[in-house]
Amino acid sequence: MLKISTTTKSITDASSKFCRLVITEESLSTHRFLENKDGQVEYRMGVGKWKDVDTRSFRNIIRSIIQAAKSHKVEFLALDFSSFTFPKLSQYDEKWLSSTLAENLLIADYEFLTYKTKPADNKALKEILVCGLSSNDAKAGIERGTIVASYVNNARDIANTPACDMTPTELGKRTKNLAKGLKIDVRVLGEVEIKKLKMGALFAVGQGTKSETKFIIAEYWGAGKPSKLKKDDKKAPIVLIGKGITYDTGGLNVKPSGAMHDMHLDMSGGSSVLATIACVAKLGIKKNVVALVPAAENAISDDAMRAGDIVTSMSGKTIEILHTDAEGRLVLADAYTYAERYSPRVIIDVATLTGAALVALGQHASAIMTKDTNLESRLRELGEESGDLVWPLPLWDEYKQHLKSHRADISNIATNFSRFGGAIEGGTFLSFFAPKNIPWVHIDIAPRMDSIPSDKLAKGSTGEPIRLLVSFIEKS
Ligand code: BES
Ligand code: MN
Ligand code: ZN
Repeated sequence: MLKISTTTKSITDASSKFCRLVITEESLSTHRFLENKDGQVEYRMGVGKWKDVDTRSFRNIIRSIIQAAKSHKVEFLALDFSSFTFPKLSQYDEKWLSSTLAENLLIADYEFLTYKTKPADNKALKEILVCGLSSNDAKAGIERGTIVASYVNNARDIANTPACDMTPTELGKRTKNLAKGLKIDVRVLGEVEIKKLKMGALFAVGQGTKSETKFIIAEYWGAGKPSKLKKDDKKAPIVLIGKGITYDTGGLNVKPSGAMHDMHLDMSGGSSVLATIACVAKLGIKKNVVALVPAAENAISDDAMRAGDIVTSMSGKTIEILHTDAEGRLVLADAYTYAERYSPRVIIDVATLTGAALVALGQHASAIMTKDTNLESRLRELGEESGDLVWPLPLWDEYKQHLKSHRADISNIATNFSRFGGAIEGGTFLSFFAPKNIPWVHIDIAPRMDSIPSDKLAKGSTGEPIRLLVSFIEKS
């Protein structure tokens, strides 16, 4: 990973191996290199009028620095921390500023190179020296941001790995790797235990493949494990649930070509919640967090679940599978039931659940659905602050009737096969399984599963919404 080092000294004292970044009020597309007589190179980059820079353009500027440095094959870059004080960001403290700086430098630098032959020239960006960093808060922010970014990038590595290598078993192994050296207990349940727990919905999704279905449990008791789990106890954990479909063919309702090739990313919710719990432990946050990842491959074979099958979920509710491609909600249903045993303070599920969320929001924000208006506004604010944008869709009871099954307690898609409100229907399905009287939020990250050019991130997994979840946990 790119190294970020800091110094209290001014940028003019940086050694001559460093190219010095100078930001100007010219437009973002203005880039100039200047070399003075003693060989010192200055890189001038326009960032637009300083008075206009807000949280969104700030992140954009930082990522542009990396893009520019990479395209010009700059190996060592120095920047002046004090030049990044913009009036619209004055409400944020130095720690936020420096953390945001480090996070965005490092996530913009990330590339998924595991499957690429190493290029002959090794002219990568190696070090960024942040100058003029005098306060302890600013230093602490760089440390925090470096840690957060490393877990975001870890999650992207896991998500970007092709499904031939990232099976549910491998996801379990990666979880144990993430937890190494941290105070996280990991258990990976296999099919025998999944059957014993009567997780019939999770089992059905994975029954069409020889890759064993797993249920991954990671617990971090940063505030100390309570002797007895009670909901209103301060020590009641935050439970995160992540969809862990390691490949989604659609099942027998097979996806059309062009809609399948990136479905190795269908476990992004899972990799995000696992990286989040590891990040929270690494940061030493004194909170209790549990991550649950139902992991399965939605494959096609003579053993695969069929449209028309009826399965019994762990909750006891029966589900008519009207569509085998609506598999995410099935695995999440059993995870929600399992979550109840922790008497959580709040449950947040993160899932690449519906293409309909993309239709609703485009690719700039994930959809959140919750009946808790406080949680909704807090997550929206933290989304703006962290960069993992979320936007609400309703979870009204009106939508429930669409899932009334003729043959079972509930069906997994609208009984009339309508696609209208598809993202909300996904959330509504989950509402039947979320434990009563516990606040819960569904985050449909399908819109943010894959990066888009304006993100200025490598193609593939975005690692969202780890930054949002970490700050939510820090502040709750
Ligand atoms: N994993 C997909 C959702 C998805 C689609 C994520 C595109 C990212 C990009 C999910 O399992 C799925 O197939 N959902 C169906 C639901 C439908 C059958 C009700 C969909 O969106 O078409
Ligand atoms: Mn699907
Ligand atoms: Zn899926």
